[in-house]
Amino acid sequence: MSHEIVGFLGTAWEAANAAGEIIRASWQQPKSIDYKGSVDLVTSVDKECENKIVETIRSVYPDHSILAEEQTDHEGSRPEYRWIVDPLDGTTNFAHGYPQFCVSIALEHKDQTIIGLVYDPLRRECFRAIKDHGATLNGAPIRTSETVELDKALLATGFPYDRRDNAEFYLGFFKAFLIRCQEIRRNGSAALDLCYLACGRIDGFWELKLKPWDTAAAALIVAEAGGRLSNFSGDQFSIWGNETLASNGSIHGEMLAALKLDQLD
Ligand code: IPD
Ligand code: CA
Ligand code: CA
Repeated sequence: MSHEIVGFLGTAWEAANAAGEIIRASWQQPKSIDYKGSVDLVTSVDKECENKIVETIRSVYPDHSILAEEQTDHEGSRPEYRWIVDPLDGTTNFAHGYPQFCVSIALEHKDQTIIGLVYDPLRRECFRAIKDHGATLNGAPIRTSETVELDKALLATGFPYDRRDNAEFYLGFFKAFLIRCQEIRRNGSAALDLCYLACGRIDGFWELKLKPWDTAAAALIVAEAGGRLSNFSGDQFSIWGNETLASNGSIHGEMLAALKLDQLD
């Protein structure tokens, strides 16, 4: 591994760990909450974590670009390097004290993710991937599951923030999988859901309208763990797209078939 990559990884970890400390200290304390939409909230801790992460990255790589969920869209003098950050993925869980949330940090080089790090500060689980060098959980290599049938699969999903307006549409997908898979989880942190897929705790995942900071790090972790990602038509996945379908590979075809809208009733 090059010196440069080791440096990027060190900085990503330093930033995630610092944010993790803030989250651990505050998750059971009263929260200061603002609303970005009717069910889309943000706490002062999201912002505090983002500031800490951005400050840590900038202190080492002042010339890199940074895109972070809450308030940062900074173009550096070397924009071919761009950090994509979700300072707290699972904010609704965090606001309620429901212990499922994480910090997500990715680094792109020329629009390709080269490093992904997702940190669950409560379980102290650090999922990490380096492009073409595999994925790990706390340093140990991880692989997606060996489940070969949708019928035996545990899936996870989430519902976008416009769910009150489009409930029937989203429930159509939910029903299509509910009647075909073993069980479905809705855990409230897309980045962690994808990392759970990467390490074989679930077999497949789908969600609409995720943002680049939700998926940038975890998509690389899934791919490097041997999983498959696409949109709902089976075409190439993009962190900028509207559809995320991810699986262990073996059940991908069955998931794509289930997603065909003409099969939904
Ligand atoms: C959200 C979580 C959730 C998913 C939403 C995301 P946030 O991110 O990942 O699981 O269903 O679509 O926006 O707002 O907690 O960072
Ligand atoms: Ca998020
Ligand atoms: Ca967030």
